[in-house]
Amino acid sequence: MRYGLKALPTGLALVDHYGQKPPLTVDYGSPSLRLRQKKISSKGELLIRAVKEKPGARVLDMTAGLGIDALILASYGHHVMMLERSKTVFLLVKDALKRAAQDDELQPVVARLAIHHWDSTSPFLPAKGFDAALVDPMFEEKKKSALPPGNMQMLQAFLGQGAELQPFLAAAQALGIRRTIVKRPRLDRAPLVNAPRPVYQLTGRSSRLDVFFNQV
Ligand SMILES: C[S@@+](CC[C@H](N)C(=O)[O-])C[C@H]1O[C@@H](n2cnc3c(N)ncnc32)[C@H](O)[C@@H]1O
Repeated sequence: MRYGLKALPTGLALVDHYGQKPPLTVDYGSPSLRLRQKKISSKGELLIRAVKEKPGARVLDMTAGLGIDALILASYGHHVMMLERSKTVFLLVKDALKRAAQDDELQPVVARLAIHHWDSTSPFLPAKGFDAALVDPMFEEKKKSALPPGNMQMLQAFLGQGAELQPFLAAAQALGIRRTIVKRPRLDRAPLVNAPRPVYQLTGRSSRLDVFFNQV
């Protein structure tokens, strides 16, 4: 098998047995993430602007991935419930949360984060009535040049690509969540299959957030 999980001294890692890339571990205490957390503000972080709530809101991250977006939201003070379909990615994040909970600085942030192994196109009832949902499932990329950075490249190679937006919007609506934020590459102008038009967009350096309002 090409990919496997391995317990390393640095934490649980996804290992590519054939590739050149170093093992992928999730580290919420990395210097770059600590710096980003220290500088957090509603003006600087596009995602916090898109959620448009005071600290303490409840956000459903329907596509947890490595949990970086969730960490940013939780660092601002939001409570984030993450859902992840891949058992491997779920285990990587769970391990990262366990390690981060031992760190005095990260512990209060991690206390606002939870992850569940779940396919979020089915409504996850404990998230009923949350303030906002986030969707970032790796939509099909047209251009080869638009590779995601660092760890995300390996994640993409491991998981593959391709997702439809409509089932996520339908699940958010079924949960009575009014605001759904969809993260896409900045220059991806292709309309998403079977999806309504966003109400508005926020554009950052590398990504764009499309904001949808569900009828609830
Ligand atoms: C691009 S990553 C998300 C990155 C994340 N925003 C972050 O900051 O680390 C996409 C993740 O969504 C997960 N995913 C895709 N479809 C899903 C679904 N229906 N339910 C739950 N997770 C899903 C994939 O397994 C992958 O881990």
